[in-house]
Amino acid sequence: MRIILIPRIITSLAALFLAVSTVGVASPTKAADDILIADFEQDSYDPWTLTGEAFGSGPAKGSLPGQMQVDGYRGKGLVNSFFQGDDSTGSLTSPEFRIERKFLAFLIGGGKNPEKLAMQLLVDGKPVRTATGPNDKAGGSEALEADSWDVSQYAGQWAVIRIIDEAKGGWGHINIDHIVQTDTKPKGSIKDAQRIVQATSRYLHIPVKNGSKKRILTLLVDGQTAVRNEIELADADPDWWATMDVSQWSGKTLTLQVDKLSDDSTALSKIELSDRLKDAAKLYQEPLRGQFHFSPQRGWNNDPNGMVFYNGEYHLFFQHNPYGWGWGNMHWGHAVSKDLVRWQELGDKLLPDGMGPMFSGSAVVDWNNTSGFGKEGKPPMVLIYTAAGNPTVQGIAYSTDGRNFTKYSGNPVLQQITGGNRDPKVIWHEPTQKWVMVLYVEWQGKHTIHFFTSPNLRDWTLASITDGIPGSAFLYECPDFFELAVDNDPAQKKWVLLGANTEYAIGTFDGANFKAEQTKLTGQRGRGFYAPQTFSDVPLADGRRIQMGWFQTETRGMSFNQSMTIPLELKLVSTADGPRLTYTPVKELESLRQTTHTFDAMDLKPGDRNVLEELSLELLELRMEIEPGDASQIVLNIRDAMVIYEPKMQELSVNGQRAAAPLRDGKLRLTIYCDRTGLEVFASDGLCYMPLPFNTNPENRRIFLETRGGTAKVQKLQVQELRSAWN
Ligand code: FRU
Repeated sequence: MRIILIPRIITSLAALFLAVSTVGVASPTKAADDILIADFEQDSYDPWTLTGEAFGSGPAKGSLPGQMQVDGYRGKGLVNSFFQGDDSTGSLTSPEFRIERKFLAFLIGGGKNPEKLAMQLLVDGKPVRTATGPNDKAGGSEALEADSWDVSQYAGQWAVIRIIDEAKGGWGHINIDHIVQTDTKPKGSIKDAQRIVQATSRYLHIPVKNGSKKRILTLLVDGQTAVRNEIELADADPDWWATMDVSQWSGKTLTLQVDKLSDDSTALSKIELSDRLKDAAKLYQEPLRGQFHFSPQRGWNNDPNGMVFYNGEYHLFFQHNPYGWGWGNMHWGHAVSKDLVRWQELGDKLLPDGMGPMFSGSAVVDWNNTSGFGKEGKPPMVLIYTAAGNPTVQGIAYSTDGRNFTKYSGNPVLQQITGGNRDPKVIWHEPTQKWVMVLYVEWQGKHTIHFFTSPNLRDWTLASITDGIPGSAFLYECPDFFELAVDNDPAQKKWVLLGANTEYAIGTFDGANFKAEQTKLTGQRGRGFYAPQTFSDVPLADGRRIQMGWFQTETRGMSFNQSMTIPLELKLVSTADGPRLTYTPVKELESLRQTTHTFDAMDLKPGDRNVLEELSLELLELRMEIEPGDASQIVLNIRDAMVIYEPKMQELSVNGQRAAAPLRDGKLRLTIYCDRTGLEVFASDGLCYMPLPFNTNPENRRIFLETRGGTAKVQKLQVQELRSAWN
C-alpha cells in the first residue's frame, strides 16, 4: 500500500516549505496538490492498525472468492471486508494525519449500514463524518463510487480514519479505496434526481454510455411507478439512444427519476421526446448488422421466446434489454415475419413487473379456446413466461390480434417449485387433449425437466419429472419438446426433448411420462448457439419443425448486440446409431438469392487455379457436392474464414472448431451461409450443423477453393450472392 502519512513534525515543516515555495510561483487560484492518504496498492495494511478477520491480512486485489465482480476501484488493490465472506467482522484504523485540504475524497462500495459498515473520520477520538456503502437489498452492485466529505472546518486538526465492519449476513461488507485530501471540489451526486415531462410524443430517447455505472431510471405516472430499469446512463455524450415507448401514457405528466446522478450529469436533461425513432435512417445499415439474421433495432437480445405461427405470421419474441448493450432488464421484444426471413420489429410486449423481469418462455395458439381468452370466435395466442423475481413463478399473457397482449389477472399460474425454475415450453398433446408444459427445475441438486399438464393453460398439475431417466441431468435450461416422424414416416414418430445447449434425448411420451430411448445426443456442433426454440402451430399442411437459436454475435460499438440464427428445419433421420436430428436452412432463404454463379463439374488438384477467383461477395450462400478422391484436405477460404474438410477423419473444421461430418454415399455435401456476423455451415445432409459467430473482414470479399495432398471431384458448385433481408 502506498500510504503517505508523515509524522506531525515533518508534516508541519513540509507544509511550511510548500507554503514558502509556492510564493510567487503558482498563480494564487491554483489548488494545492492532493495529498494521498492511502491507495492500498501494497501487500500489507501497514502502518494502519488491523483488528478482526473481515479485512484479511492486507488489501484485496479485486473480488474475493464468492463475491460478485468488484469494480470501480483504482489500481490493483482495495480494502474489501468480504474476506471469509459477509459474516467476518473487524476494523482498520489509519495513523493520525493532519487535515490540510478542504475535502477528503475516497471510493466506497459494499453494504449500506451507517452504524456497522462505515468509514469514519475521527477528530479528537470522535466520529465527525461517516460514509457507508449503497447496498441493502439482494442484487445490487459491487461497484465502488466516488464520495467525499467537506472537512474545511477541521483545517489544521489531527484526525484518523477508521473503517469498520461489524455487520453479518447479506451485504455485510464494505469496500474502500483511494483516500485523498484535496482542495478541488470532488464531484457531488444527487439522490433521486428528477425531471418532469409531458407525454406529448410516442417515444422517450434515453442517452446510454456502454460500460458506465448502472443507474435506476424510474418512470412515475400519477405518482405510481410505471417502469423501472437499470440503465448505463450517459452523463455526457451517449454511445447510443435507447427508446422507451410511452404512448400508453399519452397526455399524462411523467416523472423521470434517477436514483443517483453526478451533479454535472446531463443524462436527465438530454432525454428527448419525439414520435420518430432517433437515428432511424441509420437502422439496419450499421457496419456490424447481420443482414439476414434477426437482431433487435436497439439493445441486447438473448433467447428466442414465444415462437408461434398465428394469423398468417411467424411471431418471434425474444429476451430483450431495450436499455442496455449487455444483458439485463429482461423484456420480451417482438417481431413478426410472413416468410421467416424478413422481420418487422414491433416493440416490447412483456415488460418487467412486480413479479420480476420477464424470462424465457413459449407461445401457443389455443384453437379450442380452452383458456377462455378467445374473443368473437378468434382463438387467442397465449404466451407462457417466467417472472424471475423472488419467488420465481410462471405466468401467461394473451392476445387475439397478435399485437396487443394482456397479462392474465390470475397470474402466476405456477408457483415456484425451487428457486430459478424457468423457461416453460408448452405444447398441445392431441391424444390426451391436454396442454403439456416442460419446465426446467433444479430439483434435489439435479437438473430436471418437470412435466405439467393442464386442460386450460391456467391450472397446472405435475405429471412427471425426468429424474428417473438415466443421463437426463444434462437437460438444462430452455427445454423444447416436440414430436417428429423418423425419415418422414408417419408410422415412426418419436419425441425429442432438447436443452439449451442443444443436447437432446429421443423417446416416447404418453401425455405424462417421457421415456428416453437414447439420451445425451449432440445437437449443433459449432459455438455461440444457445437456447433454441421451435415454432408452434406451423400449419399442418406445412408440418415443418422450424427452429431458431440465439446466435451469440458480438457487435461492439453498435447500438445493438447479439442476434438469432437463420431459421432451421429440423428432421429425424435414421443412421446406423439410431435416429438423429438434422438441420437444414429453410427454403424461404432462397428468396435472398440475388445472383447465381454456377460452376461446371471438375477435378481439383493441388496447385490448380482458384476457380472462384472472379467472385467478390459479402453476403453469400455456397453449395457444393464433392467426392474427396485422394485429397487429404478440401479447403475453402471464405472471406478469411477457413472451412477445411479432412476426408480421412471425416471431420470438418471451421476456423479451428472441429466436428464429425461423415461422408454420405461417399460424398460431402456442404452448404454455407456467410453474413457480416458469422458463418453457418451445414454438412453431411444436416447431421453436422456448425454455427460460428465472428465478425467477417469487411475488406475481404474473396473465396478460395483448393485441395491439398490429392485430387477431389467437384460435382456441383454454386455460389449465390445474397441480398439484405432488411430492405
Ligand atoms: C438462457 C437464460 C434462460 C432465462 C433467460 C434470461 O439464456 O438464462 O434460462 O430464462 O436466459 O434472460
